[in-house]
Amino acid sequence: MDNSLYMAPMLAFTDSTFREVYFRHFSGIDRAISPFIVVSENSFYKKKAIQSLLPSLHESVPVEPQILGKDPLAFAALVNLLEEEGFQSVNVNMGCPASAVVNKGRGCGFLPYPDRIKEFLDIVMSKITIPLSVKMRTGLNSHNEIYPVIQILNAYPLSEVIIHPRLGVNKYNGPVDLDVMDDLMALIRIPIVFNGDVSRTSFYSLKRRFRSVSRWMIGRELLKDPFLAQDIKSTQERDFNVLSSMNAISTERSIIIREFHDDLLEAFSRIIKREEALVGKMKSYWYYMDSLFPERKWDIENLKRILTLDDYKKVTDRIFN
Ligand SMILES: Cc1cc2nc3c(=O)[nH]c(=O)nc-3n(C[C@H](O)[C@H](O)[C@H](O)COP(=O)(O)O)c2cc1C
Repeated sequence: MDNSLYMAPMLAFTDSTFREVYFRHFSGIDRAISPFIVVSENSFYKKKAIQSLLPSLHESVPVEPQILGKDPLAFAALVNLLEEEGFQSVNVNMGCPASAVVNKGRGCGFLPYPDRIKEFLDIVMSKITIPLSVKMRTGLNSHNEIYPVIQILNAYPLSEVIIHPRLGVNKYNGPVDLDVMDDLMALIRIPIVFNGDVSRTSFYSLKRRFRSVSRWMIGRELLKDPFLAQDIKSTQERDFNVLSSMNAISTERSIIIREFHDDLLEAFSRIIKREEALVGKMKSYWYYMDSLFPERKWDIENLKRILTLDDYKKVTDRIFN
């Protein structure tokens, strides 16, 4: 079974500018889910938020917009607006663990309340015509929450369900819970996308454990290891060790990473006019990219204190050379 690889939504990281530049330099990703846009209860949407989601001519990979919200009528209105803009499917966020989101009953805040999910889906599904997928965790406070939710989801013609098997209260800490995932594999009757700590060392063991899964979503590891998707695509299960050992960055690969970085800086400099904000934006990617250049730890540490573009360029020159 061929693997289909998805770029995970990461708010403030995998926006359309990043995706466009990433897809110009790296291959292997088949599909992306955009970071969420929030449903506005009064149906007023910031045009900029919508525009940053629009598939651009340069984006060579299909992008599904993700929506965060709990009001089914406002949600359906936004889906219909996105359909008018040309999108062919949408995703609902039932995984965001941020307290501000959960306290409003959105994101992961849906999961302890299966009745609310049923009511939400009843209304939304009756008002939209394009396919809907769900991205969720395996509970907010307890994995027990997920079982009644699955029974409900199974009753709707959802296009797929993306599962990140962690509890909302655990945010991004601790290991993903693969035992819960084993249970869900037997219960879910919707195509599953596995998400959570997919990396070059975990990929083939996950694949061996979850034989029927062919869709894999990668988030943080793609920022740390931008060649990951193309390396997965170019190896077979029998090359398990090859995939794990391909992470050393060759000179050729470090040139590609540099070109990607320089393109990203140029693309953001067209949008972010304030120098300090531009430098801040670029620095945020080094939080993930630092593992690419372990021998440059000191320079990368130095980046944290930098405020001007000149200094940023000087330090990144040192990192890449
Ligand atoms: C900085 C950051 C922003 C995120 N933004 C979103 C988001 O907008 N929508 C969403 O569904 N998940 C979001 N996530 C969760 C990721 O999509 C993904 O589920 C999670 O990181 C686990 O996958 P990974 O281990 O491959 O990173 C975010 C995660 C991080 C770290």
